[in-house]
Amino acid sequence: MSFTSSTQSVPAAGAIPRHIAVILDGNGRWATRRHLPRAAGHRKGVEAVRATVEGCARRGVEFLTLFAFSSENWRRPAEEVSLLMRLFLSALQREVTQLHRNGIRLRIVGDLSRFEPRLQKMIADAEARTAGNTRMTLTICANYGGRWDIMQATNALLRQRAAQGVPLDQPVAEDDLSRHLSLAYAPEPDLFIRTGGEQRISNFLLWQLAYTELYFCECFWPEFNDQRLEEAIQWYGQRERRFGRTSVQTRGGS
Ligand code: IPE
Ligand code: IPE
Ligand code: MG
Repeated sequence: MSFTSSTQSVPAAGAIPRHIAVILDGNGRWATRRHLPRAAGHRKGVEAVRATVEGCARRGVEFLTLFAFSSENWRRPAEEVSLLMRLFLSALQREVTQLHRNGIRLRIVGDLSRFEPRLQKMIADAEARTAGNTRMTLTICANYGGRWDIMQATNALLRQRAAQGVPLDQPVAEDDLSRHLSLAYAPEPDLFIRTGGEQRISNFLLWQLAYTELYFCECFWPEFNDQRLEEAIQWYGQRERRFGRTSVQTRGGS
């Protein structure tokens, strides 16, 4: 299945976004406020992930994309990085069976080459096991960066064009590049949610967020729950997505 860019073809207006992309932020601050180690925030954050996955699947969201570890998060203290890796590994081990039972397809995108071989193997197995599921696609962005994605797509395109002997002066179209992006299987996100109070993209889906509605939530990620998801979706339902057109055109006028 392939999708055209939502910046080119306007998605049908509907209260439920087809694709929600989330920066789950604020685990550390949530813990620090409670005089707990940051690790406690990350553990609690896994529970909020579970609730969000279930809430989205129940509402008929087709794609949910979560930013779990950025290419810049390696800059954190080694101890925190290794805890995040262990949490990721154990969540994979624990949750895949339930995801599979719920008809959810799992994809992990990012530069996976930096992960230890055992984790890479588990990722490949989890993806293969859930590959036939169609209810919702859950994408976890791990060691992901928007710039990394655009660069890896560019390099893939260059290799392909060299192999096919495409003349260097033949222009590159948007589609030529976007089909090499790691989320090429999904439509562009309709709704972006960031918890934790910061209003920035932090090198998440730079290409794909071109026309996404941006929602910022003050709560820390461990506090995110079904009610907060509902509030974000309600807010989304009230947006008028114009994609460059006028308001009159958007409402069906000429
Ligand atoms: C988000 O919470 C989780 C990851 C980035 C892995 P943070 O760990 O960034 O929490 P804060 O922003 O420091 O509170
Ligand atoms: C963004 O959160 C990345 C993830 C949630 C994985 P950060 O906490 O790393 O973002 P900054 O550093 O505040 O921009
Ligand atoms: Mg943060």
